[in-house]
Amino acid sequence: MTVSPRDATDVLLIGGGVASVRCARALRKEGFDGRIVLVGEEPIPPYNRPPLSKELLREDLPDDLVLAEPERWYERRDVELRTGRRVVELDLDRRTAVLDDSTAIRFDRCLLATGAEPRKLSVPGGEHALLLRTLADARRLRVAATRAGAGARVVVVGGGFIGLEAASSLASLGLRPTVVELGERLWSSSLGSKLSEWAMGVLGDAGVTVRLGAAVTRVEPGAAWIGEERLAAAFVVAGIGVRPRDRLAADAGLDVSDGVLTDAAHRTSHPAVWAAGDVARRAGRRIEHWHAAREGGERAARSMLGLEPGADPSPWVFSEVAGHAIDVIGAVDSWTDERWLRDGVLAYADGERLIGLAILDGAMPVEMARAMVTVGNARDPALAAT
Ligand code: NAI
Repeated sequence: MTVSPRDATDVLLIGGGVASVRCARALRKEGFDGRIVLVGEEPIPPYNRPPLSKELLREDLPDDLVLAEPERWYERRDVELRTGRRVVELDLDRRTAVLDDSTAIRFDRCLLATGAEPRKLSVPGGEHALLLRTLADARRLRVAATRAGAGARVVVVGGGFIGLEAASSLASLGLRPTVVELGERLWSSSLGSKLSEWAMGVLGDAGVTVRLGAAVTRVEPGAAWIGEERLAAAFVVAGIGVRPRDRLAADAGLDVSDGVLTDAAHRTSHPAVWAAGDVARRAGRRIEHWHAAREGGERAARSMLGLEPGADPSPWVFSEVAGHAIDVIGAVDSWTDERWLRDGVLAYADGERLIGLAILDGAMPVEMARAMVTVGNARDPALAAT
């Protein structure tokens, strides 16, 4: 390392997303009065991504509606924001981070919350496909949708969370999206056949065509191709998954394997470094959702202070498909049976063990569902109640 830091902080938060903000918030809430610096590469303060594929596509809304905290919050809580800056190198022996303006900052403790980046569509012309990860991406997509206008056909590659939310929003603007999903079911089968079938129905009613088991092989202006079949497309959007941004950590010598490895308290393989959010593989599992990032940032803060990390509720993902709200509770990846318990409540179970619940349009309060999944009894009488 060539740069000598003149600057030093108690806590350095690397990454401008919700994991970092919630970490800062929890540190202050626990009474920590040391210096906190948050470095984020986007030009604006940390914001919430969930609205980007929903409200922000459907309506013209100002940036401050999505901010995780209002700008004055950082001043009030004495959290120094360095936006538009990227950490390019970490020297863990010297506990120093180098920024892309060649300044360096020494830290006592650091949180890695560098998030994930979208996979690009690697087919000829795939570089023309729009991606949706940042606020700037969402603005670009809205401009494209407005230009294309009602009635225009568009192609959405990927029938996962981004693809289905984007297609739903575009359909609500009057566009005619075709979702092209590689898997035999939506959400690459991770949420089972029943939710996929339900979603196919409501998407069809909303004017979204879905092609399962299909791959876009080429993109060109005005069209996307599935083999020899041409689909007219004013534009193409791709939501085909993300990769954790763990390069900085790997280069610094931290243990990394499809994400930065941490224990349940978000501690990495270096005692001065914690990780949370999409980049973290916590106790063997990487969860790429908003609640997990927020709760992870808070737990990491308590862990940094030597406190018990606190509550560890069941994972909670929320989404919207064709105007319907979906809440998925639990780590829904190891179930054997899926069954509708009643209207709007789908259970994922492994024998007697309840693994997760999918709840449509608020058919059950989320906190109740989280408590049930934590207990894990598939024969819970409350589940049978109709
Ligand atoms: P995803 O992993 O949810 O879905 C990707 C989908 O693309 C899968 O169904 C996969 O089978 C399909 N796919 C992959 N390659 C393909 C190809 N070449 N052609 C056609 N289909 C292909 O990832 P997504 O939707 O890109 O979302 C990115 C991240 O953002 C994820 O981590 C997701 O969980 C998160 N997110 C979460 C939301 C929520 O919690 N409501 C909303 C939007 C995104």
